[in-house]
Amino acid sequence: MTAWREAVAFTSFLHMSFDFDTVYSRHDTDSLKWARYRGRDVIPMWVADMDFPSPGPILAALHQRVEQGIFGYASAPQELAEVVVAWMREKYRWEIDPSWIVWLPGVVPALNVVCRAYGDEGDEVVTFTPIYPPFLAAPPRCGKTLRTIPLRREDGLYTFDVERFASEISARSRILLLCNPHNPVGRRYERREIERIAEIGVARDLVICSDEIHCDLILDGGPHVPTATLGPEVSARTITLMAPSKTFNVPGLNCAFAIIENADLRTKFKKAREGTVPHTNVLGFTACLAAYRDGEPWRLALIDYLRGNRDVVREFVSRELPGLSMDDVQATYLAWIDARALGVSRPARLFEKFGVALFDGAEFRGEGFVRLNFGCPRSILVEALDRLRRAVQGVGKA
Ligand SMILES: Cc1ncc(COP(=O)(O)O)c(C=O)c1O
Repeated sequence: MTAWREAVAFTSFLHMSFDFDTVYSRHDTDSLKWARYRGRDVIPMWVADMDFPSPGPILAALHQRVEQGIFGYASAPQELAEVVVAWMREKYRWEIDPSWIVWLPGVVPALNVVCRAYGDEGDEVVTFTPIYPPFLAAPPRCGKTLRTIPLRREDGLYTFDVERFASEISARSRILLLCNPHNPVGRRYERREIERIAEIGVARDLVICSDEIHCDLILDGGPHVPTATLGPEVSARTITLMAPSKTFNVPGLNCAFAIIENADLRTKFKKAREGTVPHTNVLGFTACLAAYRDGEPWRLALIDYLRGNRDVVREFVSRELPGLSMDDVQATYLAWIDARALGVSRPARLFEKFGVALFDGAEFRGEGFVRLNFGCPRSILVEALDRLRRAVQGVGKA
């Protein structure tokens, strides 16, 4: 067989061996996303987790760990740092030292730790909007001032407004919170885009926190460029946040990590989390190890399925929802839909009445938009889209 035939055969084998189509009821799985609509005919597509079981190797590892029956405070399994180092090398050509890894129970706590760890009260934390709401909440919670710079659009995609960023940061700006891939706009930033931002970060002596939790879910073929890989002077000021949680659908197991090369930044980060951030979950560690060591075939099949779902959403929005639009989703399983043409201030409320729960854009500083999570079996997605059509038709008739 030629190489490409082998590749096709292998890919087909992958698809046959993983099932993302079966619909599982999540009503009895203590799901945050589903509990809000218990007893109501509403399809929840707001919180960013997926309605798929985690990969087999993770389930097997968890079963084995549960069999041990003892769940004291955890430290990272010995093999885990090596597995993470290998993942960074293979996926992102990033050579990290195991000592740079700081284990955490989540990325959101880390965003808050970063805001607390660096600079003084009243200093500014800068970020680009629309953005995942904890980016907006963390700075004021830690005595810092939030400065937001709207993303701008270029060639049908969102990108950084570099000029505005350069001119609006002030002498008090201390921290830059980046999100790459960017929730909610689905951008996988190109090297040249982050380079321009990082250059300014270096010139203005900012601490850069790069939330890359979605980096293993690239749908457009990639590559994902971790901010810290742009060069030594960038790595020396960057805190990278990652986790297996989105990719392998284990966010309820509370395991994430920061990668911090600079020892001084790392010490300050660890000090700032003392007493408030809990230990990493013992089962989260087990899942994390199994994910990065044995989860790759499942991840590849998942990406393929999510691409299919993304295409279904994109086609549907452009053909069936007049006036609504969305950009290409390069990464994540989140579609950012422009619903401003409906002329309603909170479009998510309208869609909820028609049986689909979406995240309202206002929460992200994107008024008139909605965020739709397509990490679900396709039959559910198709039903939800049909309900959106009825909602839009309803507005047309009103
Ligand atoms: C950009 C981003 N950061 C962090 C999180 C959540 O991180 P965690 O559950 O590890 O706190 C999400 C979840 O949607 C996210 O999209």
